[in-house]
Amino acid sequence: MMNIAVAQSGGPTCAINASLVGVFRESLKEPSIDAIFGSINGIEGIIENHLVDLKSMLLTNEDIELLKQTPSTVLGSCRYKLPDWRENEDVYKKIVSTLKQRNIGAFFYIGGNDSMDTVNKLSEYFATIDLDVKIIGIPKTIDNDLCITDHTPGFGSAAKYVATTMHEITRDSTVYSMPSVTVVEVMGRNAGWLTASSAVLHAIGETAPHLIYVPEADFSLENFLKDIRQEMSKHKAVIVAVSEGIEVPEGVQSGVVDNFGHKYLSGIGKYLEDVIRHEIGCKVRSVELNVMQRCSSHLASKTDIEESESIGAEGVKCALSGQSGKVMVFRRISDMPYTVVIEHAEAYEIANNEKKLPKEYINSAGNNIRNFALPYFLPLIQGELSPMMSQGIPKHFAIHESVLK
Ligand code: F6P
Repeated sequence: MMNIAVAQSGGPTCAINASLVGVFRESLKEPSIDAIFGSINGIEGIIENHLVDLKSMLLTNEDIELLKQTPSTVLGSCRYKLPDWRENEDVYKKIVSTLKQRNIGAFFYIGGNDSMDTVNKLSEYFATIDLDVKIIGIPKTIDNDLCITDHTPGFGSAAKYVATTMHEITRDSTVYSMPSVTVVEVMGRNAGWLTASSAVLHAIGETAPHLIYVPEADFSLENFLKDIRQEMSKHKAVIVAVSEGIEVPEGVQSGVVDNFGHKYLSGIGKYLEDVIRHEIGCKVRSVELNVMQRCSSHLASKTDIEESESIGAEGVKCALSGQSGKVMVFRRISDMPYTVVIEHAEAYEIANNEKKLPKEYINSAGNNIRNFALPYFLPLIQGELSPMMSQGIPKHFAIHESVLK
């Protein structure tokens, strides 16, 4: 018999708990697995031996179902970068000590490309010291920027939220007779996937978003203002989707970086609002979707949540088949009918890499997304869950804040 541990890392999504549920449910079925530990705050919990017994937390099927539709990371998260073990082995020794003390034979790390760096480094280290602990990465990120996998758990729900909110903003912004511009800022770091996904509105006959700016296309204020003026000549209310990661003049972003050197991005929408007000002088608003786009589980994509559970479960099967240092990935077989299979890839191929939006998805002016891209996005946002409600508010599964740091 062995125990296993699971942890969540990086930016939250609506689906990261569904992957935890996948790991949990599959492990329950496996007679060789005894305790299922949850590590608090990602790898930090393993380093500090701060683990919780998930079997004593998730007591009923209702608990599990509720967790599956709860946004964010129930176990907390971290943005912790492991050092190179050849330069600093101390932290690795602490990790090994926890794993041995808790008799952990497999560790599942649910995270994005930075977290896959942890999977890669640990699997390399375990091989070097001949430690038989399987380590498997389960992908997640609303940014959809992981290599090899067709898409990432969490992206579909975020895309559904972004497109739906943009749709609602479109209705709101057309009520007055005066011309207006609304700039909607979307997350995604250096990749434009999430911003581009707002183009799914074109599939239901909307002309909005009229302009879509992603980091993969060159951006200049001069062309931006030209584009706005041109769209204002055609539409009373112009809706613009702009990625948080587009190139902007020095000083617009705070300059603060995380442990992986990623800039905290926010504020481009507000900046462009001010530019439009100053240069064009029309009614203008900016909307920063901010964390809502990654935690609005009331409109999660059923496809995303179900797939996220499945990929967690497949991770357990992969570890039990003897694999380690792998990341679970989706391979799309077809758009219509939408079919994917779950496979695994090497963690070193995914760690710290970014998959950008394909250039052929972007129009030649660099200010919108071609309809050609829509069959990629549309299957990922299909289906809805029925949120469990309490007093008219969606219920969440949460562990006591005293357990989290
Ligand atoms: O990587 C996911 C993400 O949500 C990005 O889209 C965003 O730029 C970043 O995380 C925000 O980081 P934080 O979780 O620190 O707010």
